[in-house]
Amino acid sequence: MLTQASLLPVERQVHILPPPAGRKELSFLFAPAASSSAIAISDSREVLTTLPSGVFQACVTSPPYWSLRNYDIDGQIGLEETLDAYIASLVDVFEHVRRTLRDDGTLWLNIGDSYTSGGRTWRAPDKKNPARAMSTRPATPDGLKPKDLVGVPWRLAFALQAAGWYLRSDIIWHKPNAQPESVKDRPTRAHEYVFLFSKNERYLYDNQEVRGPNDRNLRSVWDINTKPDPHAYEAVFPPKLVEPCLALTSRPGDMVLDPFLGSGTAGLVALRMKRSFLGIELSPAYAADAERRLNGMVYRG
Ligand SMILES: C[S@@+](CC[C@H](N)C(=O)[O-])C[C@H]1O[C@@H](n2cnc3c(N)ncnc32)[C@H](O)[C@@H]1O
Repeated sequence: MLTQASLLPVERQVHILPPPAGRKELSFLFAPAASSSAIAISDSREVLTTLPSGVFQACVTSPPYWSLRNYDIDGQIGLEETLDAYIASLVDVFEHVRRTLRDDGTLWLNIGDSYTSGGRTWRAPDKKNPARAMSTRPATPDGLKPKDLVGVPWRLAFALQAAGWYLRSDIIWHKPNAQPESVKDRPTRAHEYVFLFSKNERYLYDNQEVRGPNDRNLRSVWDINTKPDPHAYEAVFPPKLVEPCLALTSRPGDMVLDPFLGSGTAGLVALRMKRSFLGIELSPAYAADAERRLNGMVYRG
């Protein structure tokens, strides 16, 4: 009979570290010729601030959306009172990311948009999934009106550009299987953005690694279906979105960063593509889920 105790990882390839996970605790990742991966359960700002400069080749991530969900954990990004404060928090995280990237490193940033509340100030809890934390809707940001599209991705992109990042491409992630919406006065949204930023003017980008149809240079609209989300995470990105990013801007053996690991998709793809990675996730429950996913828990008789 299978017991709890027989639920063991087949191969433990990813270490999970409780807080405080800083330079000392993570030094095994950065030792010469190391090829280890880790998940740090912490606020990404706290971890990154302790790390050496120039260690990651690429960062692929999707930050929490603004005011979408409250998981009641101190340090959670996305609950800022104002849009400007939310953008400022993310710029702060990505300043740490920039320092810890190699000089020829890049950041791939996936982010969706949202609408102002249209007068509603709260949203009912999700009855189908009570585990999903209650959401709050903030006041309409200054300068916007009810029903306005907020334009979060571009606001963030301009703020990062102003902070010194090179904004190299906006990629439209088109979702052919996008959920229908009940709206009748605008088109149904079927895309999100992925921005490619570089730390410097010149950076690692091997355009031969991923080609468009007829062997042309890759285009900036990517058709990728979303996957059903068994854990009800917000914004789980599909592995297919991460693959081209890592193929184009990192090599086997390189170290990849995701400062908002969630269910661990970026780590999963990094491992499959023979990169090592550091994932940082504030929620212990999500970090544990990611670890299970990455360490391949199976039953052993
Ligand atoms: C959009 S989700 C990432 C989803 C991920 N791309 C995936 O495929 O599962 C953002 C994650 O950031 C985490 N988070 C929020 N604030 C954080 C912080 N200050 N430091 C680290 N993680 C944080 C949230 O708990 C959430 O899991």
